[in-house]
Amino acid sequence: MSQEITLIKGDGIGPEVVDATLRILEAAGLDFKWDEQVAGGQAFDAGVDSGVPEATVTSIQRTKVALKGPLATPIGFGQRSANVTLRGLFETYANIRPAIQLPNVKSHFQDLNLDLVVVRENVEDLYTGIEYMETPDVALSLKLVSRKGCTDIVRAAFEFARSAGRKKIHCATKANIMKKTEGLLKSTFEEIAVEYPDIETDHILIDNCAHQMAINPTQFDVVLCSNMNGDIISDLSSGLVGGLGVAPACNLGRQYSIFEAVHGTAPDIAGQDKANPSSMILTAVMMCRHLGYFKEADAVEQGLKVTLNSGIMTGDLTRENPVSTTVFSDAVIGNLGQTMPGFMAREYKPFVMPIYEPHVTSDFCPSSVVSGVDIYVDSKLSLVDVISNMSNLASNVRLKLHGIYNRGTKVFPVQTELTEYIEHWQCRFVDEDGGVVQDADIRELLDLIEINDAFYWMHVEKIFNMD
Ligand code: NAI
Repeated sequence: MSQEITLIKGDGIGPEVVDATLRILEAAGLDFKWDEQVAGGQAFDAGVDSGVPEATVTSIQRTKVALKGPLATPIGFGQRSANVTLRGLFETYANIRPAIQLPNVKSHFQDLNLDLVVVRENVEDLYTGIEYMETPDVALSLKLVSRKGCTDIVRAAFEFARSAGRKKIHCATKANIMKKTEGLLKSTFEEIAVEYPDIETDHILIDNCAHQMAINPTQFDVVLCSNMNGDIISDLSSGLVGGLGVAPACNLGRQYSIFEAVHGTAPDIAGQDKANPSSMILTAVMMCRHLGYFKEADAVEQGLKVTLNSGIMTGDLTRENPVSTTVFSDAVIGNLGQTMPGFMAREYKPFVMPIYEPHVTSDFCPSSVVSGVDIYVDSKLSLVDVISNMSNLASNVRLKLHGIYNRGTKVFPVQTELTEYIEHWQCRFVDEDGGVVQDADIRELLDLIEINDAFYWMHVEKIFNMD
């Protein structure tokens, strides 16, 4: 029986580039059974808050594989992105974005034949959606990075590198500033790297990585990043080889995989038969390899390269006689079976997402290690008054005011007149004799803050001594 795949054509140009791709796959002899479902704009319009209807979820649960066009997401208001929902729902924790120079496609580095891949953590970090207005004037977002998430993405990056015959991984982080979150990715990478002696490894700061990509991109083979950094750096890498219209992507998990073009719905050209289907075609090529159809994947990839090399292109790539989506995909079909000298496909091996014993969670005994508490308050008082009121408030209880921070800068006990303050104060209390802080101590403090008109507390964080 032929492989069943969930098909989500998507919004805007989605149906056009997906239909073009399906015709090419069929012409290449692939008789996949498509189960067409919806997500994104159509689902939001039908009143599905998540953008992913139950029928779509059930379909992917059954088929385990989805091919997806771009989905519309409202910006700055309204529902959560259906793409983000799908990634989280199916735990597709690895986002893989190759940036490979295609023949004849104009780019700043066209002569270098760039060939690199960004592997991006896909379900954690600043994209969990844990974000809120802490006060009417302060927005807060949680950067959540777990040891499990780091282990998953690091192992996936090494296994992917092996399957695609790649030799080196750069782990690109901001561990110099975000020592705990980004630092966890770096240290996990270094721990696991010893198990893969055949792959060369290096660490690079993400800002320098962006800089190096712009001045010397050939040094990169695989670049591994946390979610947001990877989001940005993978768009940058696509830009190096001619833009989003030619860049494929996939989201892989242990059980489910979702293959999607990286570009959006392009509302400006939707419904005009102008869209470039190359990104979607290359995405389908990745899917075919993932499913073990290596020969067919090579044929489609080569057919696309031969077409581009002959100068047949859509309007985003050329001003001289651009062709329509339909004419372009017909040309690719006509070129199936031909190969493009000098642009040979890599030798790919089957890639299976790594399965391993779950990480043993670290010993953690909160009641014995709480050494302090941070209470975040809103207050209109001046710095001097915040300090004196908070100190007074704590004068009759066990915990004492140890420090006050404003936007991360310590403003008490070391005061600085240079800092401009906002009405959002992080007040740290500890037992000055070094005793363990009990929940009752925290409640006592909160009770006092609550009856003080000058302060309004928003959230509380215990401080643990972990090691
Ligand atoms: P976009 O990628 O849709 O368009 C940016 C520019 O690139 C436009 O000028 C467009 O015409 C052009 N373009 C994009 N893909 C093309 C293609 N295949 N062929 C020819 N030209 C192409 O990005 P934009 O405008 O920021 O987003 C529009 C919508 O798409 C938004 O709702 C956004 O949330 C969504 N989006 C969805 C993504 C996904 O589902 N994976 C990814 C990015 C955006």
